[in-house]
Amino acid sequence: MLSSTFIAVALAGAAIAFTPSGFQPASTQNMTVAFGNTLAINGKEMQKADTATAPTLGTSQRLFGTYTVMMVDPDIPPATAGGATSELLHWMQSGLVSANTSTTIGGVATFELINPGNTSAIASYIQPSPPNKAPNTHRYTQLLLNTTAMGSNTTALNTLMTAGKTRTNFSAVNVVKAAGVAIIAGNSFDVTNGTLVQSNITKTTSVAGSGAASATGTGSGTRASDAANASSVTTGAPKATGGVGETFHSGNGALIAGLGALAAAVAML
Ligand SMILES: *[C@@H]1O[C@H](CO)[C@@H](O)[C@H](O)[C@H]1NC(C)=O
Ligand SMILES: *[C@@H]1O[C@H](CO)[C@@H](O)[C@H](O)[C@H]1NC(C)=O
Ligand SMILES: *[C@@H]1O[C@H](CO)[C@@H](O)[C@H](O)[C@H]1NC(C)=O
Ligand SMILES: *[C@@H]1O[C@H](CO)[C@@H](O)[C@H](O)[C@H]1NC(C)=O
Ligand SMILES: *[C@@H]1O[C@H](CO)[C@@H](O)[C@H](O)[C@H]1NC(C)=O
Ligand SMILES: *[C@@H]1O[C@H](CO)[C@@H](O)[C@H](O)[C@H]1NC(C)=O
Ligand SMILES: *[C@@H]1O[C@H](CO)[C@@H](O)[C@H](O)[C@H]1NC(C)=O
Ligand SMILES: *[C@@H]1O[C@H](CO)[C@@H](O)[C@H](O)[C@H]1NC(C)=O
Ligand SMILES: *[C@@H]1O[C@H](CO)[C@@H](O)[C@H](O)[C@H]1NC(C)=O
Repeated sequence: MLSSTFIAVALAGAAIAFTPSGFQPASTQNMTVAFGNTLAINGKEMQKADTATAPTLGTSQRLFGTYTVMMVDPDIPPATAGGATSELLHWMQSGLVSANTSTTIGGVATFELINPGNTSAIASYIQPSPPNKAPNTHRYTQLLLNTTAMGSNTTALNTLMTAGKTRTNFSAVNVVKAAGVAIIAGNSFDVTNGTLVQSNITKTTSVAGSGAASATGTGSGTRASDAANASSVTTGAPKATGGVGETFHSGNGALIAGLGALAAAVAML
């Protein structure tokens, strides 16, 4: 069970938080979050276009009981410059249970969290879409809550359902506390609005969109870089809207994405 891992980590004195640094509530237990076969874990920089539908979730060990995922963005820019960032609730889905057998997702053996009862979302999934305004990189944070006992506690369930009605100025820490639920695991991935000025674009390639393609669409400028070859990488604009793909030089070490993102970016073209 997870508890033994918890103890091992605590004893080792190396409790790494899988939620973003400073984020509350924190979790030192990881979880699988993946878009298709691309892992979106450990703060990895993801392409907005790859995050259109809710990710697959899972844990390395099989869980017994019923769980709820909460996904928030704690990096909503303030209405007035200099103000504090606030939280937005992106997703809250209850009724999740571990699959009986593990599957391999992005090379990681995972017991997928599935919703066999088709429980309606408390708050349906909203795709990451950071505006072109500081902070341009948003840390989309997932928390896995143990809501096993909630089936018999309508107070706790109502707390989550009531909280899920208001997405803006959300407070994950207060909601988790009020519902009295335990956090089992956490994770985060980043999406950056790196819209580039025209002079920063070294080459443009037209990409067919699945919807009404707009030749004038602004490309997504998320920098993707393979650590083994950090020269230049091609990324695409969101497929749904069509638009342009851009090739540009990645000179920002803080925005190095993994091989998975590179593969996904190339596959999109
Ligand atoms: C989570 O941690 C476990 C144990 O260290 C590891 O086996 C697993 O691959 C990790 N999962 C992810 C998604 O990183
Ligand atoms: C797991 O297996 C048990 C026993 O066969 C079954 O009752 C249960 O529905 C299965 N759970 C899932 C999530 O498939
Ligand atoms: C959930 O939805 C799936 C697909 O629509 C359906 O096959 C299944 O029977 C549903 N399960 C329940 C418990 O309603
Ligand atoms: C960046 O933000 C602008 C508006 O602020 C938006 O039109 C554009 O779609 C965003 N791009 C990405 C990749 O989120
Ligand atoms: C979740 O809570 C239930 C009791 O409500 C407990 O049996 C189960 O072990 C908990 N799950 C984890 C992963 O701790
Ligand atoms: C039900 O949940 C509330 C928190 O929402 C908690 O204060 C209360 O003790 C719980 N009741 C039972 C019987 O577990
Ligand atoms: C957001 O919520 C906090 C309390 O959690 C409150 O003090 C603050 O005024 C709220 N901000 C807005 C803009 O509603
Ligand atoms: C464009 O490139 C210049 C010089 O490298 C850089 O200072 C600037 O921040 C870039 N602008 C954007 C929007 O990325
Ligand atoms: C790295 O990029 C250069 C050109 O930019 C290319 O010639 C080389 O094959 C690439 N190396 C790898 C490992 O992809």
